[in-house]
Amino acid sequence: MASTQRGKFSNRIGFLAAAAGSAVGLGNIWKFPYETGANGGAAFLIIYLFCAFVIAMPIMVAEISMGRNSNLNPVGAFKKLGGKRWGLVGLIGIIAGIMILSFYNVVAGWAFGYFVQITFGDLLSQASFGSYFENYIADVDDNLIYSFVFMVFTAVIVAGGVQKGIERSTKILMPALVIIIVGLIIYSLTLPNAMKGIEFYLIPDFTKVTGGTFYKALSQAFFSLSLGMGALITYGSYFSKKDNIVSSAALVTAADITIAFLAGLLIFPLVFSQGLTPTAGPGLVFVALPGVFESMGPIMGKIFGGSFFLLLCFAALTSTISLLEVPVSYITDEFKKPRKATVAILAIIIFIVGLPSLFSNGAVKELTEFVHYGGETKSFMDLVIDVFSDLALPVGGFLTAIFVSYKWKTRNLANEIENGHSNFRGSIEEKFVNVMLGVISPLVVGFIIIVTVLEKFFDYSVFG
Ligand code: PHE
Repeated sequence: MASTQRGKFSNRIGFLAAAAGSAVGLGNIWKFPYETGANGGAAFLIIYLFCAFVIAMPIMVAEISMGRNSNLNPVGAFKKLGGKRWGLVGLIGIIAGIMILSFYNVVAGWAFGYFVQITFGDLLSQASFGSYFENYIADVDDNLIYSFVFMVFTAVIVAGGVQKGIERSTKILMPALVIIIVGLIIYSLTLPNAMKGIEFYLIPDFTKVTGGTFYKALSQAFFSLSLGMGALITYGSYFSKKDNIVSSAALVTAADITIAFLAGLLIFPLVFSQGLTPTAGPGLVFVALPGVFESMGPIMGKIFGGSFFLLLCFAALTSTISLLEVPVSYITDEFKKPRKATVAILAIIIFIVGLPSLFSNGAVKELTEFVHYGGETKSFMDLVIDVFSDLALPVGGFLTAIFVSYKWKTRNLANEIENGHSNFRGSIEEKFVNVMLGVISPLVVGFIIIVTVLEKFFDYSVFG
C-alpha cells in the first residue's frame, strides 16, 4: 500500500521537530541577524513579525493541509487537488528547492569548516578575520571537502526515511540547538557593551525603513519558514489526521521566530562588545564573530566559537534534510523509485549543481562577477539566491494562496483542517485563514513581488 510505504511521523512531536527543524536554519542564525543589522534593527524586526505571523503562517496552514489531504509530494498534491496543469506550480517549487539546497549546502560547508578550524585548527589566531573569510570562501579544496561531507550527512539521514531518519535526527538536533543557543546568550550578555547591542536590536529606527525593507522582510519570512516550495506540503503528507494543523503551524512559526530572535540576542551583544558595526552583511557571523571569540582567550574562544559554529551546522542540517526530502518524495511517489538510490543520485546531482555557486565566491572570476543587474555586479550564487529564494518563494506562496482559495476551495481546506480540530468550522481561526489566503496574502505578496522585481532586477526605486 502506497500510504504505508510513504512513511508517517510517529506523533505530533515528531512532526513539530521536523517542521521546526526545517524552518530553523541558516536563515535564522546567519541571515536574519545581518538583514536586521542592515535594515534598521528593531524596525526590521517589527515588519518581519508582521510578515511571518500574518502573511506567512496562513500559507503554512494551507501547505500542510494540501500535503495531508493528498498524501503526496508537492507536484502530486497540486495535480490531485487541482488538475494536471497545477502540477507545474509544484514542479517550480521542487526546482526552487533543488536550487536553494545547491547554494545552502555551500554556506553550510563554510559553517562546518569554521567549526573544524576554530575547534581543531588555528582560525582564531588570524591577523584579519575579514581577509581570512575572503580567502576561505575562495579556497576550492576546503569548500569542496566540507560541503561534500555536509551533503553526505544530509543524504544519510534522508535515506533513513521519515521516522528513522528525519524524525529521529531532528528530535536530537533541535533540543541540542536550543541548549547551545541559550548557553551562548547567557554568556554574551555578561560582556562589556552588551547592552548597546540590545539597544540597537530592540529600539526601532524607522528612518532606515524603505520600500526594500518590506520585500526583504517578506522574502526572509518565506525563506525562514520554508514556505513557497513545498517543504511543508511534503512534511504535511507525513502528518497524522488526528493532529491539529492550525496550532501546529502556529507552533512552528513561533519556534522559528523565537530562534531568529534569540540569534539576534546572541549576536548583537557580541558585535557591540567588540565595537564592531552590525551592518556587515553576509560576513557578519563569519567575520565579526571570530573577532569576538578571539578576545575571549584561546580556551574560552575555542569552546564558545566552536559551539557557535556547531549550532550553525545543526540548524543547517535540519533544513538541508527537508530540502532534500522534497525532490526525494517527488521521485519516489511519482516514479515509484526506491528511496535510497533516489537519495544518493539526487544528492550527487544537487552537489554538482552547487559547484558554480561554490566557485563564485572568489575562486573563479567569471562566476564571481557573473552578471550585472539592479545596479550591482552579482556572483552566480547571488543570482541563484535572488531568483530561487527571494523571488520564487514569494511567488510559490502567492500561487498556493490563490490555489487553495479559488481552485481547491476553502471548504475543502476546512474539511481537512477539521481532522484533529473539530471546532475549526465557524471559528475565528477559519475566518482569519480564509481572509488571509483569499484576499490579503495575494494582494500584499503580489504587490511585493512586483516591487521586488522592479527594485532588485531593474534597479527601479518604487518608493522614490
Ligand atoms: N528555513 C530554512 C532556513 O531558515 C531554509 C529553507 C528554505 C528550508 C526553504 C527549506 C525550504 O534556513
